[in-house]
Amino acid sequence: MQLKLKLTVVAAIAAVAGVASAQEQVVKIGHVAPVSGAQAHYGKDNENGARMAIEELNAQGVTIGGKKIKFELQAEDDAADPKQGTAAAQKLCDSKVAGVVGHLNSGTTIPASKVYNDCGIPMVTGAATNPNLTKPGYKTTFRIIANDNALGAGLAFYAVDTLKLKTVAIIDDRTAYGQGVADVFKKTATAKGMKVVDEQFTTDKATDFMAILTAIKAKNPDAVFYGGMDPQAGPMLRQMEQLGMANVKYFGGDGVCTSEIAKLAAGAKTLANVICAEGGSSLAKMPGGTAWKAKYDAKYPNQFQVYSPYTYDATFLLVDAMKRANSVDPKVYVNELAKSNFKGVTSTIAFEPNGEMKNPAITLYVYKDGKKTPL
Ligand code: ALA
Repeated sequence: MQLKLKLTVVAAIAAVAGVASAQEQVVKIGHVAPVSGAQAHYGKDNENGARMAIEELNAQGVTIGGKKIKFELQAEDDAADPKQGTAAAQKLCDSKVAGVVGHLNSGTTIPASKVYNDCGIPMVTGAATNPNLTKPGYKTTFRIIANDNALGAGLAFYAVDTLKLKTVAIIDDRTAYGQGVADVFKKTATAKGMKVVDEQFTTDKATDFMAILTAIKAKNPDAVFYGGMDPQAGPMLRQMEQLGMANVKYFGGDGVCTSEIAKLAAGAKTLANVICAEGGSSLAKMPGGTAWKAKYDAKYPNQFQVYSPYTYDATFLLVDAMKRANSVDPKVYVNELAKSNFKGVTSTIAFEPNGEMKNPAITLYVYKDGKKTPL
């Protein structure tokens, strides 16, 4: 008697669950960035952007293939480490996410892009800028910002044409990103007649740059170009001040172009020498930038860094392609993703055949009174 009752209850629950699953389908979207370690502030900012998009999509209610979709963010940490990057990518493949937003660093994104291609999952990065990402021509790899060919060259043009600087010392952190952006700057600047008076190397873990800066100071350059991220650039600016390099301009790509660098430079006057480049328009010039930023700040106060508007757009972009394909199957909707013409917060997003964005903008910034300001 008791057993029969239990079975009836189980059957009733199963029936209810069956009805629910026929109406609602859970679709997982992956996000990967460093959310631990010295680069966690970039990663959290990016993850916030994707999370905000997922919450809005669920609040709107999205129906695909006749089913109400509930999106879930599967957020992973790669700690900016290439090995952890591929491990996170494999984890997302195994979890059968429908698409991935990320990664943040070129050093993790490039190896991860092969993993996603092998398991047939589209990935959209709104932060990794090394041009080599799109070289293999994977059908699953997409980037929605300018790459380092644009960032490095834009900075070199500004250094030579506008500021009329003649000499530069170049430092990079030996990561795919740092080395890549420094190489583009060097090639463009040299072609325009600038002289590279010194080249030095560090790592993305270092914090003491006194030895390399002392060597550079002896060469008396007009500028330093740093290919790397702000946990190094911040202390480097402080140490340049200590060494009396107060009049040396300091160039860097998007990796140094954060809100955080102002804190990490800890009041060093050399922050005012920074000129950095970011892929995309300034918030004020994005179609939906100002309203979006107000919404973001209300939800995640004091966490904005660089690329969260792009991870937000990347999430909506994936779902836009699913809607047009009327399918959440990555192998089906990836074809629509390639044909995107999506009006996002950051810009209208469409792709070249290799997955690079069509006509991406770049913006140069300086720090005025410690605040990142578009030029
Ligand atoms: N743009 C930086 C990179 O590619 C964050 O690593």
